[in-house]
Amino acid sequence: MSNRTSLRGRRPLATAAALVLLTTGGVAAQFTASTAGAAGAPLAATPPMGWNPWTYLRCSSTLNEKTVKATIDAMVTSGLKAAGYQYVNLDDCYAATQRGADGRLQPDTVRFPNGIASLAAYAHSKGLKFGVYSSAGTATCAGVGPGQKGFPGGQGHEAADADTWYSWGVDYLKYDACNSLPPATNDPGNTARYQVMADALKAAGQRYGRQIVYSICDPGRNVETWAPAIGNLWRTTGDVGLKYGSMVANFHENSAYSAYAQPGHWNDPDMLLTGNYPTGDSSRPGLTPEEERSQFSLWAEMASPLILSTDLPGRLNELNAGVERGKNTFNVLLNKDVIAVDQDPLGKQGTVVSKTDLLPPLAPGKTRDRLDQRFATILTKPLANGSRAVTLTNEGDQPRAMSTNTTEIGLRGANNYTVKDLWTKKVTVYTGSYFTFTVPAHGTVMITVTPTN
Ligand code: GLA
Repeated sequence: MSNRTSLRGRRPLATAAALVLLTTGGVAAQFTASTAGAAGAPLAATPPMGWNPWTYLRCSSTLNEKTVKATIDAMVTSGLKAAGYQYVNLDDCYAATQRGADGRLQPDTVRFPNGIASLAAYAHSKGLKFGVYSSAGTATCAGVGPGQKGFPGGQGHEAADADTWYSWGVDYLKYDACNSLPPATNDPGNTARYQVMADALKAAGQRYGRQIVYSICDPGRNVETWAPAIGNLWRTTGDVGLKYGSMVANFHENSAYSAYAQPGHWNDPDMLLTGNYPTGDSSRPGLTPEEERSQFSLWAEMASPLILSTDLPGRLNELNAGVERGKNTFNVLLNKDVIAVDQDPLGKQGTVVSKTDLLPPLAPGKTRDRLDQRFATILTKPLANGSRAVTLTNEGDQPRAMSTNTTEIGLRGANNYTVKDLWTKKVTVYTGSYFTFTVPAHGTVMITVTPTN
């Protein structure tokens, strides 16, 4: 699918860069991108929440106007919109394979017979926002292969494409890196190419009186070191596969970059897998309900974008018919306590305070596959009200007792701590500073801890 696989997985360099910034306190100085939206309101002040079809639809013919409109309706009637899910985004494959005679991007009129502007207007009429996708290269990522062609990319067309998207009413752009030239030797990543589109979006936005949220999709090129100055969010990982190992691998990669997250600028470990199990395809088995709760907890703890990717109308029908999958999908996506942690106005990404390898030591010279790691990990995230949100994640195949204490999670000095389990909703007041939980296999216990007196 993609011609840039080899560019991914260069994590050690990126980690080193992260540490340098941490120790020099240089993070704040990195963030120079415009964060102003309409009327100066902060753009992506909290991590974007919404829907994207890629994980479950790819380029199938079901990616069409009817599906997107039904999704918009389901976002409203299911309560997702009221819970904060705002964006309905297209991914790859919405465009015609050729630009028009005027050089402009055009929609695929078989999929979208009424065009993209009318779809954006439909989203807006329901109080939602609308997003599109492109690539910083000559073609997008899909359809690249023998006998296939990508869809038009933005390289060399930045000003015209930015204008087109604003004229369609677009609010959000995911900008990929396929089919782009290698970065210049003096460019640590893809800064120059992504800056051209940032400038085009800004210039066109000034004409239209609002700004498009800019989502950079260029993992593996030290993106966290340059993207915060250019965009509002940036993918830190490869595509999340529809399987548990892939989800936790993206979690661990993304957790290294907590220093870069702040209001208007977010690390993006890719989409939520909620609502997609099982597929019958052993390489894409989906997540169990326990694993779905775990991903949702971890993504919220890391102040990640909450972009879901499932057949929402289908899940809603299941919910209404009392089918387990539909019930679980909305039970996860509508957990307001977990969403509140993600959307906390302080905008801090949770940091790892302990990480234990659960697998036996490797034989000398052997390395583990990225998807075959197993850890028990605890993260803490400061919240605006002085509480901490804490996740205790057990990637093992057996339940596990996991403990933390107030010093480890960054709180101390109170006599009592009120602990709320964000999934069971149980509230306990602890006298003393140690907490122990039984964490299910592949599960995450997520709590808030509030000093009480
Ligand atoms: C890349 C991105 C995916 C998706 C596809 C579309 O693989 O990482 O999220 O946008 O391209 O082709």
